[in-house]
Amino acid sequence: MTGAGRRSPIGGAEGVGRGKARPGRGEMAAAATQGMEPLRVGFVGAGRMAEAIAQGFIRAGKVEAQHILASAPTDRNLCHFQALGCRTTHCNREVLQSCLLVFFATKPHVLPTVLAEVAPVVTAKHILVSVAAGVSLSTLEEEGAMVMARGRYAGSSEAKLLQTLLEACGQCEEVPEAHVDIHTGLSGSGVAFVCAFSEALAEGAIKMGMPSGLAHRIAAQTLLGTAKMLQQKGQHPAQLRTDVCTPGGTTIYGLHALEQGGLRAAAMSAVEAATSRARELSGK
Ligand SMILES: NC(=O)c1ccc[n+]([C@@H]2O[C@H](COP(=O)([O-])OP(=O)(O)OC[C@H]3O[C@@H](n4cnc5c(N)ncnc54)[C@H](OP(=O)(O)O)[C@@H]3O)[C@@H](O)[C@H]2O)c1
Repeated sequence: MTGAGRRSPIGGAEGVGRGKARPGRGEMAAAATQGMEPLRVGFVGAGRMAEAIAQGFIRAGKVEAQHILASAPTDRNLCHFQALGCRTTHCNREVLQSCLLVFFATKPHVLPTVLAEVAPVVTAKHILVSVAAGVSLSTLEEEGAMVMARGRYAGSSEAKLLQTLLEACGQCEEVPEAHVDIHTGLSGSGVAFVCAFSEALAEGAIKMGMPSGLAHRIAAQTLLGTAKMLQQKGQHPAQLRTDVCTPGGTTIYGLHALEQGGLRAAAMSAVEAATSRARELSGK
């Protein structure tokens, strides 16, 4: 879930077995926001991603636990859904039959079989969300940064509904599908890049004699404080960097060392490599 970095194309599948008595996708979104009808959310695949998203919805009060139905072949992960108060089943089709908004959260290699299995019960009224390679769970559970891209058949009401729900798990922006893999490289994989940087900062301090625990705490706090300043002020990072750089002072000496080490080129190449790999994995 990105962050998300998550790949979440949404799209209602073309009409196989339309149920006329049920509200349309737009109507469902409206009902969900107006409180006319409880929003029922399904998960096909009940692993870590599904649980993190469901937990986010419940914690934020977006969806009641009893209105969530998850399916998986075994009880290995379903027991976590049961502990949250959600309903569970071993039948994937039942999820589609009970819920109009359905997240597919199986491993990618299982997905084609699962889609073929549920296809007969998919209608034009369903909103189907695919969760594939992307953000780490920690970003989803905490300061999530997710993106979503619309499929051909998904309208603005479906996008709005999904965005409103996913914001329960963190920041969620709608982007063109071409940006989804870049988001994976920047934010999904970026968590590991930033961890590597935090570790290296701390190790510099350890080299200079600071105890390890203290060095890692201060490094993490420095990243947090800097990120907050960038977000709150909405400034370009170059502006903040210039502001803290006294002529002839410590920071410019340190920055010079970073430039000599090729930090910027390495970071740009890291995002490029991760994006290319995400494209390879999604078969583009
Ligand atoms: N983990 C992450 O950080 C992360 C981040 C972004 C995106 N993703 C993507 O999210 C998806 C799920 O990842 P995950 O980490 O949540 O995987 P996971 O923990 O391994 O969960 C996979 C789930 O799929 C279920 N499953 C297997 N075969 C199935 C079938 N035929 N029908 C229905 N369910 C089936 C499994 O059932 P059992 O419970 O019975 O084993 C399990 O509940 C993947 O596509 C992954 O690329 C993951």
